[in-house]
Amino acid sequence: MRYVIKNGSVVFKDGVRNCDILVEDGRIAAVGEGLDAEKAIDAEGLHVFPGLIDMHVHLREPGFEGKEDIESGSRAAVAGGFTQVCCMPNTNPVCDNAVVVTYILSRAKEVNLCKVRPIGSITKGEKGEELAEIGKMAAAGAVAISDDGRSVMDSKIMRLAMEYADGFGLKCLAHCEDENLVDGGVVNEGLSSTITGLKGSIRAAEDIMIAREIALSESLGIPVHICHVSTYSGIELIRSAKARGVKVTAESCPHYFWLTDDVVRGFDTDTKVNPPIREERDRQAVAAALSDGTLDCIVTDHAPHSKKDKQVEYPLAAFGISGIETSFSLSYTKLVKEGEMDLPQLAERMSAAPARILGIGGGEIKEGAVADITIADLAAKYVIDGEKFISKGKNTPFTGTEVYGRIVYTIVDGQIKYAAGR
Ligand code: DOR
Ligand code: ZN
Repeated sequence: MRYVIKNGSVVFKDGVRNCDILVEDGRIAAVGEGLDAEKAIDAEGLHVFPGLIDMHVHLREPGFEGKEDIESGSRAAVAGGFTQVCCMPNTNPVCDNAVVVTYILSRAKEVNLCKVRPIGSITKGEKGEELAEIGKMAAAGAVAISDDGRSVMDSKIMRLAMEYADGFGLKCLAHCEDENLVDGGVVNEGLSSTITGLKGSIRAAEDIMIAREIALSESLGIPVHICHVSTYSGIELIRSAKARGVKVTAESCPHYFWLTDDVVRGFDTDTKVNPPIREERDRQAVAAALSDGTLDCIVTDHAPHSKKDKQVEYPLAAFGISGIETSFSLSYTKLVKEGEMDLPQLAERMSAAPARILGIGGGEIKEGAVADITIADLAAKYVIDGEKFISKGKNTPFTGTEVYGRIVYTIVDGQIKYAAGR
């Protein structure tokens, strides 16, 4: 298969330039001006990004296929512009062994849309008690380990996990919330929790665990990655750790740089997420940290849930936001259009950084690279409607939000896996 992507504005590391991309046998054969082939994609007026990568999604299979499955999640992912996604292990059974890793990879291969990279759990059943089969999962193709959804509360187990994982070349992705301190909190502890009477969760619950992961990483000299950072104070911990050379990387999500906990006052359970949406000071800190690189990447924490999991009283509703179809436009609109960063930086946060952190390839448009490419119309404006999501999870707090940036093509290994309107 051979074709050329003509006249797009191509987002390189060092700037945006108008040029053509020749794709041949799943790779980028050439990048330059005046390239031609028998077939062409007309990208005039469109922007061409390295294929987006989401290193933190929940695809729910096996076990929770009512919320999402590998096929629906992959369809949603390519519609959102993602060429690779890394799926968290809080499935049923938990992905804590090589059999589940192999199952996910084989389902993803059958589905054949985006690349699906399984993340194994840190502990058996994500119970925090006993290490999972880290070596066997690595051999089967897991790209990281995480007990996402919960913290590993026992520091000694987390230390052992980091040492084992490092031995197999895997990183630990740490969900940071001290469970004792959260103590059933469902929203941020502050004015909104007081007004609503909903139980609050204090920033310190997150910060304490971020500090612990940094301390372990620093003492052991082993890298660690902090999941979905939501607090200004946690960001300061990461900033100072990075300044003294600790090998810590971190991510945040669009809901943390778009929203404040005012949104919970309407008791809309689609605003319920772990860690909780916090205050304006935190929102601004997340945006600024994504701009200055204290936060390395944007992930969705795509957490699809069924209606019955969300259409209940706030305290009983499931935590999570279905985010994979809105991440690009929310990020482009809030961060690029509002001047926090430029397009090469957006590509760094949504493609190159996750590729580098996990060592999974991709992240750059250059000759010889795998042809994972996302093409977007940045001028296209639309209003988000969760009910129109391809994902089974319609749970978004962004319905009614006007955004810019529509995904037009998602190309994986040179094959068009999504074309808008087709
Ligand atoms: O809100 C969340 N939902 N946060 C998590 O960490 C897990 C996720 C889920 O699995 O639904
Ligand atoms: Zn999490």
